[in-house]
Amino acid sequence: MSNFLKVVVFSLLVIAFFAGFSNFGVPQIEPAPPPKEEKLELGAMTIDQFVALGKKLFEGKGTCTLCHNPVGGRAPLLDRAAAAAAERLNDPRYKGKAKNVEDYLYESMVAPSAYVVSGFGKAGTNDTESPMPDASSGSIRLSEAELRAVVAYLQDLSGVEVTVKIPTEVGTEQKAEAKPAQRPPAKNAEELIAQFACTACHKIGAQPGGPIGPDLSKIGATKDAEYLRRAILDPNADVAKGFARGLMPANYGEQLYARELEMLVAYLVALK
Ligand code: HEC
Ligand code: HEC
Repeated sequence: MSNFLKVVVFSLLVIAFFAGFSNFGVPQIEPAPPPKEEKLELGAMTIDQFVALGKKLFEGKGTCTLCHNPVGGRAPLLDRAAAAAAERLNDPRYKGKAKNVEDYLYESMVAPSAYVVSGFGKAGTNDTESPMPDASSGSIRLSEAELRAVVAYLQDLSGVEVTVKIPTEVGTEQKAEAKPAQRPPAKNAEELIAQFACTACHKIGAQPGGPIGPDLSKIGATKDAEYLRRAILDPNADVAKGFARGLMPANYGEQLYARELEMLVAYLVALK
């Protein structure tokens, strides 16, 4: 066989080999199932699983490692926190109500200023105020059961006895969402426009209004309901010609009740 043929045959064999390999030899990659909203199945959990859950919360949802990590130096490392808790409880600077390690750790998360590790207080407060957020509220918002799981993790991390009992009730103890003070809904569009002071920037019909935003007196002649709804909910989506972007408040969507929004849109559409 000529060298040329040898090369061709060899190449074909190589191609055939890889073609076959890719058909039969490469394991198929299953698409991962979409992540499920995690539900706490506490009833069927061992204490080890509960500790593991705490670790996951500590590193994930709890955002604890944002501060409690070995690089930033923003917060003390917690690998000895449970072991040190007994000393903290006897420290004259301790202002909390805890009587044992478990309660101390729990309190550290929901009332961080009860004891401020020296050198880590808010600047200028002489270690009387902690910069740590309450982990049961705000954006972290761990539930009662989740807080207990983190305590179990911290005890385990320090190598002290895990005293936390796995809670059996989930949800009932969760802090009620802080509700914004309920405002009575406006009765009609005029009232709404007055309440939200739209006329501070817009002229609307007979009502005197400012020149900062476009005159809305005949807005319904050129714009439809869909456009107007978006203009109110997302003012920066289309910026009216000749007017500044970013002046119209962008949070009406959070403030208006759905029915009020529709009332307002219907009112504006009718202005022709
Ligand atoms: C924004 C930064 C920040 C975040 C986020 C944060 N911490 Fe802290 N934490 C601190 C600082 C600073 C201290 C030291 C001051 C003090 O004692 O309150 C502290 C103190 C503590 C202590 C007391 C330590 C001791 O030795 O007494 C515990 C326990 C603790 N944090 C747990 C947590 C857990 C659990 C989370 C997550 C749910 C968390 N922290 C999230 C900043 C943070
Ligand atoms: C602080 C001033 C300000 C207030 C208050 C304000 N707007 Fe505006 N609005 C503007 C400006 C500036 C524009 C033009 C730029 C843009 O489209 O974002 C605008 C645009 C609009 C538009 C689109 C007009 C067009 O021709 O595209 C509508 C509709 C509108 N506003 C309705 C309202 C309503 C309803 C309220 C009260 C709930 C309100 N605005 C409150 C400043 C304001």
